[in-house]
Amino acid sequence: MADLNIRNLQKDYGDFSAVDGVSLTAGASELVALLGPSGCGKTTLLRSIAGFVPVTAGQIEINGKDVTRLAPNKRNTGMVFQNYALFPHLTVEKNVGFGLEMRGISGAEADKRIAEALELVSLGAYGHRYPKELSGGQQQRVAVARALVVNPDVFLLDEPLSNLDAKLRQSVGMQLRDLQKSLGLTTVFVTHDQKEALMMADRLVIMRAGKIVQEGSAEELYDAPASYFVADFLGHSNVVSGKVTPEGFLSTGGTMFRCDSAGMPADRVMTLRPENLILGPAAVALPNSFEARIQSITYLGAQSEVTLSLPGGDQLTATHQNRTGDSLTLRVGDMISAGCLPEAVRLLVDDMTTAH
Ligand SMILES: Nc1ncnc2c1ncn2[C@@H]1O[C@H](COP(=O)(O)OP(=O)(O)O)[C@@H](O)[C@H]1O
Ligand SMILES: [Mg+2]
Repeated sequence: MADLNIRNLQKDYGDFSAVDGVSLTAGASELVALLGPSGCGKTTLLRSIAGFVPVTAGQIEINGKDVTRLAPNKRNTGMVFQNYALFPHLTVEKNVGFGLEMRGISGAEADKRIAEALELVSLGAYGHRYPKELSGGQQQRVAVARALVVNPDVFLLDEPLSNLDAKLRQSVGMQLRDLQKSLGLTTVFVTHDQKEALMMADRLVIMRAGKIVQEGSAEELYDAPASYFVADFLGHSNVVSGKVTPEGFLSTGGTMFRCDSAGMPADRVMTLRPENLILGPAAVALPNSFEARIQSITYLGAQSEVTLSLPGGDQLTATHQNRTGDSLTLRVGDMISAGCLPEAVRLLVDDMTTAH
């Protein structure tokens, strides 16, 4: 059990800041998912915590101890690299034992810990194989065992599921989460995949261009994104341009969306989650209700994505749940009632058109 405390961390390459004033904590046994688009500095931050990247400024504390300037083998972190970084010429056992060797642990003590680590990831029988004799999922587990064999205070995972096929991703993710919980590991889990982050995390931290833009629980971030960037990155959102009025938001196309706009600055965009746009008779009685033309329907099995064109030209997408016996017929070209609750309308800072 340990905690991680990062303050004002900075990593510059010349005049470019890969990590730009990041402060982040992970409590004992907590899994924090670091989520952001490619190039936003996730790997650099993780490698800084592990000690593979010398930082420009700021502080990293593990269990209250300043480790900012310590060598990687002196700070008791275990890291799983994105491509696993297994040594192809070493057996599974030797790969797993590598971190122990670096820390001066050998002999019977090392053998025991290697065996335990391999048991943890259900690879007890694979110690003598070479990485090329394993499947992708098994290689990933070797990388996990190698990170855990040192009994790390902080467990660091860089996109550990991204090299697995879609079917494996969920089950391996769940196994990792179970392992993390049962061992009580303080964990930073890096991903660019929002589904993975929602599935795994106690807390989500969203990064953009080297900076943290928002953090909170999955529900907090999904339901109350602080900006258009977060709303768009975590799930999908309709975005509508227009202006804030005392009643709500008047779209450029002339549709009035009622919502609480008290104290809202004028230069906002409106976002609306597709699942909050209701279609058919149920929409008529809603405070926000309009007639729209169905422009396209994408059938996705359990749901359909229905794109609507409003009279003034605004376009909105709705997610419609497909159910047996549903009397609502959806046909491209037809007019349909659509609507939403005022609470579903979010007026957000437009940080997508402004450069970081
Ligand atoms: N050694 C380096 N030298 C110069 N720029 C680097 C170096 N490592 C990373 N960067 C840059 O820092 C930014 C963040 O990279 P990275 O941390 O790998 O992002 P992510 O993992 O979020 O995709 C990128 O623009 C990348 O090109
Ligand atoms: Mg990366």
